[in-house]
Amino acid sequence: MSNLIILGAQWGDEGKGKMVDLFSERFDIVVRYQGGHNAGHTVFIGGRKYILKLIPSGILRPGKMAVIGNGVVIDPAALIEEIENLEAAGLSVKNHLAISNRAHVIFPFHRSVEKISEGRPGRVAIGTTSRGIGPCYEDKAGRRGIRMADLIEPDALGPLFQSLAQDKATLLHAFQIEDEADFDGMLQEYADYGRRLRPMVCDTSLLLSRAMAEGKHVLFEGAQGTMLDVDHGTYPFVTSSSAAAGGACVGAGVPPTKIDAILGVSKAYITRVGGGPFPSEAQDEYGDIIRNAGNEYGAVTGRPRRCGWFDVPLLRYTTTVNGFDSLLITKLDVLDEIDEIPVCVAYRLGGRQVTEMPATRAAMAAVEPVYEKLPGWRASTKGVTSYDELPQQAKDYLKFLEQQTGVEIGCVSTGPERNQTMVIAGSRLERLIAT
Ligand code: GDP
Ligand code: IMO
Ligand code: MG
Repeated sequence: MSNLIILGAQWGDEGKGKMVDLFSERFDIVVRYQGGHNAGHTVFIGGRKYILKLIPSGILRPGKMAVIGNGVVIDPAALIEEIENLEAAGLSVKNHLAISNRAHVIFPFHRSVEKISEGRPGRVAIGTTSRGIGPCYEDKAGRRGIRMADLIEPDALGPLFQSLAQDKATLLHAFQIEDEADFDGMLQEYADYGRRLRPMVCDTSLLLSRAMAEGKHVLFEGAQGTMLDVDHGTYPFVTSSSAAAGGACVGAGVPPTKIDAILGVSKAYITRVGGGPFPSEAQDEYGDIIRNAGNEYGAVTGRPRRCGWFDVPLLRYTTTVNGFDSLLITKLDVLDEIDEIPVCVAYRLGGRQVTEMPATRAAMAAVEPVYEKLPGWRASTKGVTSYDELPQQAKDYLKFLEQQTGVEIGCVSTGPERNQTMVIAGSRLERLIAT
């Protein structure tokens, strides 16, 4: 296996961090290609909990190189805090982390601007993580953003910062958002962050190109999920970056011809945080049952996640967009106590079955899920590492998902720990990671 992408097949929080940590053993470099510290990837290793936000989960494996690609938006304060926390936990980060000189920088005024779109009456609130992610990507697309290459050059930073800060001050004033920002103090503070991060900043596209030419193997780690992708997700209830597989090439500066396989991570059910349509949301007591069993609270904001049943049309759609070679199913154990498990097998809209994912928010909100109920297994699968040891109903459930989605299930996770996982014998995934 040379170069592989692992990304979310649903609305985020699928367990990408755990899967990337697990498979990173076989790779030399792990790369994040989009998003920012809106991501929260929780990894448990020997009972110890790590929450990664900007740094790819590969950093937890000694000796691996971690790369933050150009498609990521970086809050330098958050990144420095994350580096320091990991170093305090005994990991060597600074010598194993490369940060793209083309990645854009999040400033505090990006969070203030976010309040305009999220907080004002009459506006559609997305329910964002309030990290300034969207406004930073707006500046990037608006060609006025500030990049890491600028941040680390004090002479370049000053004029760019003044111009951008002035724009923001005008905007905030116009929208009557009280902002007591001390822009001069902010410039000094950020120039200092730049000085501290400078040794890690480089042309990471070139770094990856050279590494691949030397035969090094690269794993790309998605953040968020395909249904939060700015193009392919449930717009406008999405994040502002390209979480889908295509985003890996753009956000890391790597040619599409270098990607060998794409793995989709999906829960055995589904969750979403924030606003937006959710056809298979469990509106009854099962929403709470799943939330409690799966500890479904956001790693970044602590918000309770909305919970629901596995959505086949959604998975088929994200497979169309990403071309998954194999699915990695997480949190099977969370369904252990459920008698009958509904699976959404189709959407109905205006009394008719639809085969395409609706594009408008009105149609998406009007979609009615069609459920098929499967018998539960009512036995513990927690920590099971062999497919043969799974209860028959759990095997049947997985087979059903595989048949319905049309993608093989190559790996099943039965707990948060690294070793609470099984790779399915004879699967394409097994062959992919063996070579
Ligand atoms: P990510 O953002 O996709 O990396 O996912 P998160 O880390 O935000 O959320 C997934 C949560 O589920 C984390 O707390 C993981 O520790 C946990 N988790 C991952 N796989 C499993 C599993 O198979 N079973 C259980 N019970 N928890 C899991
Ligand atoms: P990981 O990588 C789940 C959601 C927010 C909100 C929308 C836009 O841990 O899977 P943003 O702050 O990005 O502008 O918010 O996207 N969101 C996530 N939901 N997991 C994430 O990341 C998310 N990152 C953003 O809740 O609905
Ligand atoms: Mg998460």
